[in-house]
Amino acid sequence: MFDLRSDTVTRPTAAMREAMASAEVGDDVFGEDPTVNRLQERAAQLFGKQAALFVPSGTMGNQICLGALTHPGEEIIAEASAHILLNEGGSASRLWGCQVTTVAGVRGAPSLEDVAASVRSPDVHHPVSAVLSLENTHNYSGGSVLAQDHVDALAALARRLGLKLHMDGARIFNAQVASGVPVARIVRDMDLVSVCLSKGLGAPVGSLVVGDRERIATCRRLRKALGGGMRQAGVLAAAGLLALDEGPALLAADHARAAALARELAKLPGCEIDPGEVRTNIVFVTTRKDARSAEEALAGRGVLGIALGRDRLRFVFHRDVGDDALSAVVAACREVFR
Ligand SMILES: Cc1ncc(COP(=O)(O)O)c(C=O)c1O
Repeated sequence: MFDLRSDTVTRPTAAMREAMASAEVGDDVFGEDPTVNRLQERAAQLFGKQAALFVPSGTMGNQICLGALTHPGEEIIAEASAHILLNEGGSASRLWGCQVTTVAGVRGAPSLEDVAASVRSPDVHHPVSAVLSLENTHNYSGGSVLAQDHVDALAALARRLGLKLHMDGARIFNAQVASGVPVARIVRDMDLVSVCLSKGLGAPVGSLVVGDRERIATCRRLRKALGGGMRQAGVLAAAGLLALDEGPALLAADHARAAALARELAKLPGCEIDPGEVRTNIVFVTTRKDARSAEEALAGRGVLGIALGRDRLRFVFHRDVGDDALSAVVAACREVFR
């Protein structure tokens, strides 16, 4: 089976397992795990921020960011298919007493006009607009990369309107590789950013939140409140360090395979896709036949994709699938979508 459902399915490498087995550890809730501290320092430096915090998952990372940037009764502005809205169990309302209002996006990017129009006027009837949340790369738009000049313009607008800025950077290194813009530059204007180590970078578990010292101290409190303080977490951070150091260089190969698949899918009558829009490791294709039955037909041919919607099928390339997987998925799709 070639598993292209997500880049979360990667398994730790032998080097990661070795590093995990020999990791120096301490109690991270006391701030005493040297490996976690090393990972956090490395991340802060890489992202050009004062501090970082290791957390168990991307969802917890995002939610800790949102919790640190809001108060109950406030509103978060997000693109209409953002992960924080659709895939985090309604946590912004469940945990923080906030609602999310949505703006349409083009390839994951909301327009300046729509963001400005979504900000509430200071009327007692209204929620208080608090945060603009961006997702980069944007999963449901097919791993699209937000143009940096647009991110900069949105950030400037947000500041003018009194909004704080969050970025769901679950796949921010894919954005760096595709755009050539270093992650520190991408997040320059963000208050808090969540970054996944356990997707394309290949760590088995873990994400990071980066930001200024004071906000990260708040995030640390929220992590504890959510039960995310992990004690001898150095065994996980050791794999995270390798993911951070060695993972980004491997992403270009995933992007090239995704682009190659998109070009092949564009030739098939049962598929609709614009290969020009595939810039990172995610391929979303619109299918003529029901996506779930296509998913099953592909699985019967040894290829796992995932149906996300009635006519949308997703394939995600990652470090555990190579050219043989690309050939297999192309051959299977030729049969299923001919
Ligand atoms: C854009 C985005 N943000 C956040 C997450 C959440 O990560 P996790 O599965 O580690 O909670 C995901 C997971 O797929 C994602 O795609």
